[in-house]
Amino acid sequence: MTVTVRSYLGAEDETSLGDDVLDGLTRPFKELPPKYFYDEAGAALFDRICELPEYYPTRVERAILAERAGELAALTGAAEVVELGSGTAAKSRLLLSSLADAGTLRRYVSVDVTEGMIRSTGASLAEEYPGLEVHGIVGDFERHLGHLPAPAGTRIVALLGGTIGNFTPGSRRRFLRGIGQLLGPDGVLLLGVDLVKDPARIEAAYDDAAGVTAAFNRNVLRVVNRELGADFEPDGFDHVAFFDREHEWIEMRLRAQRRMTVTVAGLGLTVEFAKREELRTEISAKFTPERLAADFAAARLETVELMTDSDALFGLAVARQSAPRRFRPARRRALAAV
Ligand code: SAH
Ligand code: TRP
Repeated sequence: MTVTVRSYLGAEDETSLGDDVLDGLTRPFKELPPKYFYDEAGAALFDRICELPEYYPTRVERAILAERAGELAALTGAAEVVELGSGTAAKSRLLLSSLADAGTLRRYVSVDVTEGMIRSTGASLAEEYPGLEVHGIVGDFERHLGHLPAPAGTRIVALLGGTIGNFTPGSRRRFLRGIGQLLGPDGVLLLGVDLVKDPARIEAAYDDAAGVTAAFNRNVLRVVNRELGADFEPDGFDHVAFFDREHEWIEMRLRAQRRMTVTVAGLGLTVEFAKREELRTEISAKFTPERLAADFAAARLETVELMTDSDALFGLAVARQSAPRRFRPARRRALAAV
């Protein structure tokens, strides 16, 4: 049994949390960066979100994978799965099992900011799949992908759960372009995307009756309190989730119930909130096949297949690097025009 775990989070990450929070809280429209949701408490709350009746993405994505994992194994013959934002890897097991059955699986590499999850998931997988090499990376998938080990054969890079929707459009394309570089000539990206649908259905998924999503949203204030010595009163903020029809994304906010002065001791910062002022904490973009194709094209990727459920609630896209073009007509024309 071989489990290797490497952590790339260090002192500079505490600095970057401070810088991000300073930027976010001093903007004209206040916001906090979403990756800080997932401390151990946040990760546990997210697990509960995945079980909620309103939160369809997890169930539907799992059902698509359950049905198509065999095909994916046959299509790719992959030797390794590199999973970004792996969490508990609950759904990735479907893929790993198909690859193991096909006899091609050698290694599982996971990248997540939450160390506890990298360790516990890594240990469980090594037990469940005898002979599987497990390599865990505790790090930020926006900054530490350079630390991935060299490919152990054909690769599947998996980004599940609609996490790609949490990027704003420009960083989304930049991130996809970076992933393209990891695929090699035969590798594929397996990307879970939530699809545009009835806004009421989407809003319910991010504002459940039991209040778990609200607790998850407020948890980011507890993280800032702990890490930066702030004195946010999480219960003084209401959870807000609404679908922005123009951008086709859901936006999560926290709304101050009354006027508040918050001190962030670690930054020497005092922040005023007006009554009902909102702080943006997360966006979660929803996709159409056209938007996805445009993002892929901008990242020099192309869709091999877009798998969906019969109600078209969620999509699992398989993409590969676009074939390099031998001629670059646009560029040649530009030169000719000079
Ligand atoms: N893939 C799982 C979990 C999705 S939740 C699923 O589909 O259910 C998003 C996951 O990404 C969390 O585990 C969180 O800790 C991780 N994450 C969020 N931002 C990250 C970042 N910048 N770098 C690495 N991991 C991140
Ligand atoms: N990637 C998940 C999503 O966009 C994360 C998520 C689910 C989330 N529920 C949330 C993030 C509520 C913030 C608040 O669906």
